[in-house]
Amino acid sequence: MEQKRHSFSGSIGFVLAAAGSAVGLGNIWRFPYLAAKYGGGLFLVVYLILAVTFGFALLTSEVTIGRMTKQGPLTAYSKVNKKFKFLGILACVVPMIILPYYCVIGGWVVKYLVAFATGKGFEAADPDYFGGFITANIEPQVMMFIFMIIIAIIIVMGVQKGIEASSKIIMPILFVLVIGIAVYSITLKFTDASGITRTGLQGLKILVVPNFEGVTLSSFIALLLDAMGQLFYSLSIAMGIMIAYGSYVRDEDNLVKSVNQIEICDTGVAFLAGCMIIPTVYVFQGEEGLAKSGVGLMFKALPQVFQSMGKIGNVIGFLFFAMVLFAALTSAMSILEAIVCSFMDQFKISRLKATVIETIIAVVMAVVVNFGYTIWYFDYTLPNGSVGQILDIMDYLSNNFLMPIVALATCILVGWIAKPEVITNEITKNGEKFGRKGLYNVMIKFVAPILLVVIFAKSVGLF
Ligand code: PHE
Repeated sequence: MEQKRHSFSGSIGFVLAAAGSAVGLGNIWRFPYLAAKYGGGLFLVVYLILAVTFGFALLTSEVTIGRMTKQGPLTAYSKVNKKFKFLGILACVVPMIILPYYCVIGGWVVKYLVAFATGKGFEAADPDYFGGFITANIEPQVMMFIFMIIIAIIIVMGVQKGIEASSKIIMPILFVLVIGIAVYSITLKFTDASGITRTGLQGLKILVVPNFEGVTLSSFIALLLDAMGQLFYSLSIAMGIMIAYGSYVRDEDNLVKSVNQIEICDTGVAFLAGCMIIPTVYVFQGEEGLAKSGVGLMFKALPQVFQSMGKIGNVIGFLFFAMVLFAALTSAMSILEAIVCSFMDQFKISRLKATVIETIIAVVMAVVVNFGYTIWYFDYTLPNGSVGQILDIMDYLSNNFLMPIVALATCILVGWIAKPEVITNEITKNGEKFGRKGLYNVMIKFVAPILLVVIFAKSVGLF
């Protein structure tokens, strides 16, 4: 059954949906940590430069391929060039790997939100709380399922009534929450047991003031690599998402402007998340607290910080996890949409059917991810040296292995086979001004592919 292709009602809907996808756990639990690790301001400047060059070129390419072909990722690349069918398959496999474990983490966020909402948030400050929860048999599965069902319902409702409508409500609330919590964090002050007083403003300094102490060539290269990897993930590139969302943009809308706005939102929220996390953690846990990121930061260190705040900590914890849930929901629905859109275009099935099929597949895989902490618990060592469980293997396979390949192949397709003019012609077809056209050409042909090869080499542990 062929149905009329959905579309966003206009640029604002598209920008909010795409920004919703881009703003996710990466912004909240990794960006602040990297910024603190690499001497604050210096990292911010490098990240910004990469965002307006490297990130901009990749994001522009994907969104434009989507609008040009009006196809989901699975079939879009082969429409540009027949030999690139494999790329479509890869770009559809990536979100299929990410969705299940993202929903497992989404389930953890639901659990913590409920804990803070029912006044039991401080129990989460117990060092064994998180481990106890994820190794339980039933509860993590239920939480994952709740999260998955919410996004499945939104996706069934369609592009305008589901994705766009929910993003238009969620994103403004998310912006207000991040700004509110960031302002609160900066005003914090705490004297610890040894009599040392630390303030939020001192924490903010760590984030924004460049610290060149101990910077060497090799530490700068490490910074550059981490900034690139972070940016690439943060913009939801190489996951099929921006192609799917791009395919719903109307022909008359200005893509150049939209891409800029998406980048501003993503980078802005990453920075604000830094203003929120770094001062808070620094005030209550000092420099050593700042060494945490990811799961350890969000589900262990922060609940302890909220407890140290006293009574108000429960409210702040609740607002914080509500904000994280919003960020995770809009990212998760974009990743489900990338797959649903692909299935609909390839197999000509209805949105409902495509969503049901993928939701079943993802739930089964997510159950297995949860088993990784119980009956199938095992410590795996990954090629980059880190140790993890099933969730980490899937994360590694998608982010470190497949995504750089997808992005690199996209650069080759656009830069060398189809030629960049295909993209620049599409993006300027209504007479739009594309100021960074020259930069775009150089980036997509030469610079981005080289950077991607370097990212890939680092991911697989070559250096
Ligand atoms: N850009 C997202 C983030 O920063 C990455 C992502 C998007 C992950 C969609 C999964 C699904 O977290």
